[in-house]
Amino acid sequence: MDKLIIKGGNRLKGTIPISGAKNAALTLIPCALLTEEPLTLRNLPRLADIDGFQHLMNQFGVTTVIQGTRPEDFGRVMSMEATRITSTIAPYDLVRKMRASILVLGPMLARAGEATVSMPGGCAIGNRPIDLHLKALEAFGAHIELAAGYVKAYQPDGGMPGGDFDFPVVSVGATENALMAAVLANGTSRLFNAAREPEIVDLCNMLVAMGAEIEGIGTSNLTIHGVKRLHGATYRVMPDRIEAGSYACAAAITGGEVRLEGAKADDMMATIHALQAIGIHVDWDAKSVTVAANGALKPVDLTTAPYPGLATDMQAQLMALLARAEGTSVLKETIFENRFMHVPELARMGAHIATEGRTAIVKGVERLTGAEVMATDLRASMSLVIAGLAAEGETTVRRLYHLDRGYERLEEKLQLVGADIERVDD
Ligand code: EPZ
Repeated sequence: MDKLIIKGGNRLKGTIPISGAKNAALTLIPCALLTEEPLTLRNLPRLADIDGFQHLMNQFGVTTVIQGTRPEDFGRVMSMEATRITSTIAPYDLVRKMRASILVLGPMLARAGEATVSMPGGCAIGNRPIDLHLKALEAFGAHIELAAGYVKAYQPDGGMPGGDFDFPVVSVGATENALMAAVLANGTSRLFNAAREPEIVDLCNMLVAMGAEIEGIGTSNLTIHGVKRLHGATYRVMPDRIEAGSYACAAAITGGEVRLEGAKADDMMATIHALQAIGIHVDWDAKSVTVAANGALKPVDLTTAPYPGLATDMQAQLMALLARAEGTSVLKETIFENRFMHVPELARMGAHIATEGRTAIVKGVERLTGAEVMATDLRASMSLVIAGLAAEGETTVRRLYHLDRGYERLEEKLQLVGADIERVDD
């Protein structure tokens, strides 16, 4: 088990290359199931979850080839070919390690006519139900059975007719599963109150490149005209807007100036507006976003919301930044029921944060002090790293497997901009 040792106080200065988006890659990879032709993804981040998904695809008989990129490069290329599907089952021991495996349900059902996927179960931030995934597929004509902890979905004779589904709650994953099932349905499907996250747009753009017919891309109302078959494609994964936002908070809390190379400002405007309200200077062009501290950090009130609102995946990182603001901030988490697990760990570093239900009151402090802290989920871990970069003294962050799921070579990227951080064997 590794741990990170961070000596706080260095101002971060320089350029950080931003990797391909984890949450786009995790929905683009299963699309290989939708065609017998090769699907090649470029700019894939090197993350534990991506390796896990590659292994899961191999379970189905999908051949995968990681094309050479030099070890010092960030990102890589993976070609997948689902000529023959040898299994339609996503087993418990793989799904329990990576909940995003549920995203094979829609494409496997569409391609093979049936799919059996272990229920993903909850995780640290909430119980993460999948009822909307299942209701959307049923609206398209699929039959769904739940038994022994597995979801079994299968098409009626003659294939799925397609249909309409109105999401009572905006759900990224359910929208993705619905899209990947509808593209091969016999008729037209319409989704209302669908998620509009940039990762959904990336999925729609790639599906269209594979021959799908989708209208309303980028809006809450999507119309998908089913086609007989999809062809292969080569597609570049969008840049990771949450990774970029996380490093922006790291630059800001250290009083530094960092260029986030490859970041796309349009995907992260809510985060940019939050940083500007906190007093951070943000500039951008077509190829990067540059963040520069600009005096004292101001307190702000923030509420997470579905895109284009402020991403729940940015809440913990912004809270770490606001722990050093001059005044009191109020953060409301509206998406997940238990996404404040970073609070007690930040408190051990001297932060003054009180929580009431889904609201956190953050009273800024003059200084944070290094401590031994423990990660509990992916973004909570990052908030501890951000606090550690500004804290006086040494911070040790354990349970790095959380971080390694979502941040490609984190310590190397932070070392590029002068952070005193190293990964050691625990
Ligand atoms: C995706 O999770 C992301 N994961 C999450 O990122 C992100 O926090 C979340 O979207 C919200 O933006 C991936 O893309 C792999 P949801 P997902 O379905 O799809 C409720 C990270 O840190 N809901 O949009 O699981 C659910 O309980 C991760 O990178 C239902 O009630 O999120 C939640 O309250 C964490 N029924 C809300 O919807 C369902 O069937 C939003 O969940 C599905 C969801």
